Amino acid sequence: MCGIVGAVAQRNVVPILLQGLQRLEYRGYDSAGLVVVNNNRLECIRSNGRVAELATRSAETSGHIGIAHTRWATHGVPSERNAHPHLSGERIAVVHNGIIENYEELRILLAAEGYVFKSDTDSEVIAHLIHSHYARGNSLLDATQTALAELVGAYAIGVVAADNPDQLICARKGSPLLLGVGVKEHFIASDMSALLQVTQKVVYLEEGDVAEVGLLDYRIFDASGKVVERPVHTSELNNESVELGEYRHYMQKEIHEQPQALANTLEAVCNSQSLIPGIFGAEAASTFAQVDSILILACGTSNHAGLVARFWLEEIAGIPCSVEIASEYRYRVSVPNPKTLVVTISQSGETADTLAALNHAKACGHLHTLAICNVPESAIIRQSKLRMLTRAGPEIGVASTKAFTTQLAALFLLTLVLAKQRGKLSAEQEQKHLHELRHLPSAAQAVLKLEPSIAQMAEHFVDKRHALFLGRGLHYPIALEGALKLKEISYIHAEAYPAGELKHGPLALVDKDMPVIAVAPNDTLLEKLKSNLQEVRARGGELYVVADAGTRFQSSEGVHLMQMPEHAGYLSPILHVIPLQLLAYYVALQKGTDVDKPRNLAKSVTVE
Ligand code: F6R
Repeated sequence: MCGIVGAVAQRNVVPILLQGLQRLEYRGYDSAGLVVVNNNRLECIRSNGRVAELATRSAETSGHIGIAHTRWATHGVPSERNAHPHLSGERIAVVHNGIIENYEELRILLAAEGYVFKSDTDSEVIAHLIHSHYARGNSLLDATQTALAELVGAYAIGVVAADNPDQLICARKGSPLLLGVGVKEHFIASDMSALLQVTQKVVYLEEGDVAEVGLLDYRIFDASGKVVERPVHTSELNNESVELGEYRHYMQKEIHEQPQALANTLEAVCNSQSLIPGIFGAEAASTFAQVDSILILACGTSNHAGLVARFWLEEIAGIPCSVEIASEYRYRVSVPNPKTLVVTISQSGETADTLAALNHAKACGHLHTLAICNVPESAIIRQSKLRMLTRAGPEIGVASTKAFTTQLAALFLLTLVLAKQRGKLSAEQEQKHLHELRHLPSAAQAVLKLEPSIAQMAEHFVDKRHALFLGRGLHYPIALEGALKLKEISYIHAEAYPAGELKHGPLALVDKDMPVIAVAPNDTLLEKLKSNLQEVRARGGELYVVADAGTRFQSSEGVHLMQMPEHAGYLSPILHVIPLQLLAYYVALQKGTDVDKPRNLAKSVTVE
């Protein structure tokens, strides 16, 4: 989704802006642009393409203050005309993430004032609105604050003015924005990865904040306009964590980082002899004591993690659990139960639908909220009472991999903590689970050894147009996740079904051209799954089976095996998804798609 970078410095900021934009490329974009103030003039360059092209076109540009943007089209096609920054006259330039809902009304009002619109975007109204207040003699800060009060919708913005070369104004409401603090220089960005080359000191702006950013200092105003102090954090990210290193794509790197990411996420419990609720926050024990059910809200891959967790929570902790797609829940009239623990799951912590679902749940009277999230200080973390950070490190590939497996690890911990508190876990069972969790990173490492054989298997998929994924029980959500991975990066249409559903319709699709990928752990549903797979073979369907130790599957004509080294019991979904991630990766690689930035998708979906 759109990305913002801005800088005020004594040095030329153009290289900083461009490097920042490159770091934000992973969010997904279709055009890019930047503006600097130079000799009281705005120098603006836009490109309907990659940041590399913008860099070539900006070679002669320099300035000490500037803002830059990568755009992911919402209103108006991807084009140079619709790329940001948007200018009002020669005086005001704005970059914007989010969606302005009342832009049509504002457009009419501004057109009546004589403003001429050059783009089809909702964002351009912000530039003209600020200009119209600035032209009446207000300071840039006042003009921006007044304009923001007239906007309905979500925004993170950066603003500069040609005749104000020492100051940039920024603001956030509903879209992420942070401030980077350097030595006699300051920066703004949508996420910290954009600033790692210049600083690790970061101030997270809160909802409704507006900041006036200069060379030597900055002032932050909260939603009521009062000057506020926000803490300066030192980011744990470093350049290495966002660089590709020896890998061909971020997705491949992130698949390989899973053993370490799991170890980091589980560190606190694995180094301890028993499970404590405190890993979810100081008030976790008292909150958990009050809840009688769980409601999980999330989108996409994070929703799949929730679907796995439902099995664990009901079976191990004996607590009723429902899982809803956040974008559906937020608009649904539901019956709230104040004793429900509302759990949001999100890699980014900024997904607009998940955030809105959380706020909807709170507005319905839900008091107990827990966020499982990979980004510290993200909106979802800040707006939840309890939280657990997955420690996957930055996930840059659009297709989520290590965030998913670490979410599952966190959700398994939640299950165990609740089970223990509800008297459903004996001391012996607790030790057994802890032992298995300690082993999980090395079990994940062993699964990665399947990579060369999966790379070969992927060749069978290159010419396919459709694929079917099957799983049962705990592993049906893994089939869903496998299908999502394949479709989003290889563009092969893929669907997942609980294997028992096959004969109720989808079996009609099975023929020799329909590869069927089955997740086949050695669990109680194995024999039933085997019967389902026979039904596929009998119709000539080619089978690809992710089987683990003890399942007695064998490769044969039309049956291709991905043999997992061991069976991991309840933790099996965390391991079984890894071959499916690798399969999707290698199919996409062989199809030559843009693996890390698949078409039409964005990493952090900060608009509805
Ligand atoms: C798929 C994927 C998306 C995200 C979804 C939610 O690979 O990455 O489906 O899972 O957009 O994002 P977060 O987890 O950031 O809330």
